[in-house]
Amino acid sequence: MSTNFSEARSQEVVAAAFANTPDPRLRRLLTSLVGHLHAFAKDVELTQAELDAAIGFLTRTGQICDDVRQEFILLSDVLGLSMLVDAMGNRTQGAATESTVLGPFHMVASPPRRLGDSIALAPGGEPTLITGQVLSTGGQELGGALVDVWQADDQGFYDVQNPDAVPEGHLRGLFTCDEHGRFAFRTILPAPYPIPDDGPVGELLAATGRHPFRPAHVHFIVGAAGHRPLTTHLFVAGSPYLDSDAVFGVKDSLVTDFPLVEDAALAAKYGLPPRFRHADIELRLPQQAH
Ligand code: BEZ
Ligand code: FE
Repeated sequence: MSTNFSEARSQEVVAAAFANTPDPRLRRLLTSLVGHLHAFAKDVELTQAELDAAIGFLTRTGQICDDVRQEFILLSDVLGLSMLVDAMGNRTQGAATESTVLGPFHMVASPPRRLGDSIALAPGGEPTLITGQVLSTGGQELGGALVDVWQADDQGFYDVQNPDAVPEGHLRGLFTCDEHGRFAFRTILPAPYPIPDDGPVGELLAATGRHPFRPAHVHFIVGAAGHRPLTTHLFVAGSPYLDSDAVFGVKDSLVTDFPLVEDAALAAKYGLPPRFRHADIELRLPQQAH
C-alpha cells in the first residue's frame, strides 16, 4: 500500500504514521483525533484562508496566556469541552453532589482559614454565611475533609483581576472540616460576571452572537481521604444567566437558595449583622474506586 498522501486516503495515511506510537492510549488519541479532524475539514471543505485564520486564532490564544490568564481553558469552556470531559469523568448515579467546571481562576492557592472565618478581606458586598457538611454518598460524616472555596465579589471580579484594589486571597479560603465534616465561613454574595472577553475567546463569542456571562456562583473543591475529590459550584438561585451560562456549567441540583435571614443566634455566633444571607449545604462525595 502506498504511503503517499491523497485527499481520499488522508485519514489512513496520517493514522499510519502514528501506528508505532509506543503508548497505546496516545496512539488511540492521535489516531482518533486525526480521523475526526480530517472528517471535519472534508465536511466543511475547509479553505486555506480559514485554516490560516484558525491558526492565527490559536496563536493569539496562546500569546495572551500568562500566570493568571489561561485562555485555552476558557476556549475549552466556551466550546463545552470542559463540561463534557467533566461529565464523563464524574458520572454520579444521583447520590453524589454533581460536579461542574473548574474555570481559570483557581490559579492561586487559597489561604488556610479557621472555621467561621470571613474570606472577605475588603469592604463591600452583602454579608453571607455558608454552612455545610461533607458526607460520603452513604451518609458517613467525613471529619477533616478539606473545603477549598473561591468566588467573585459583588462587582463580579476575582482578586487576581483587581490586584490594586483588593488583597491577594480576598474571597478565597481553605477550610478543614470539624470531626463531623461540618464547615462554616462568612463571605459576601457573589455577582454574575462576564468571563474574560477581551481576548480571542471574546472575539469568538462576539462573532457568534453569544454573551460572555456566568450566573453568580461560589466555587468549591472538596477532598476527603478515600473519596473522589469534587470540583463544583453553588449557583445563587434567582441569578441572571442561570439558563444561559457562557460555559454550560449550570446543573439544577447545584442551584442553591441564599435567603435573607434574621437569626440572632447565628448572627452572634459568627459576628454577622442582624440580617444576612445564609446557604446551608451538603456536599456528598463518592468513595474512591480501588
Ligand atoms: C469561573 O467560574 O471562574 C469560570 C469558569 C469558566 C470560564 C471562566 C470563568
Ligand atoms: Fe467563577
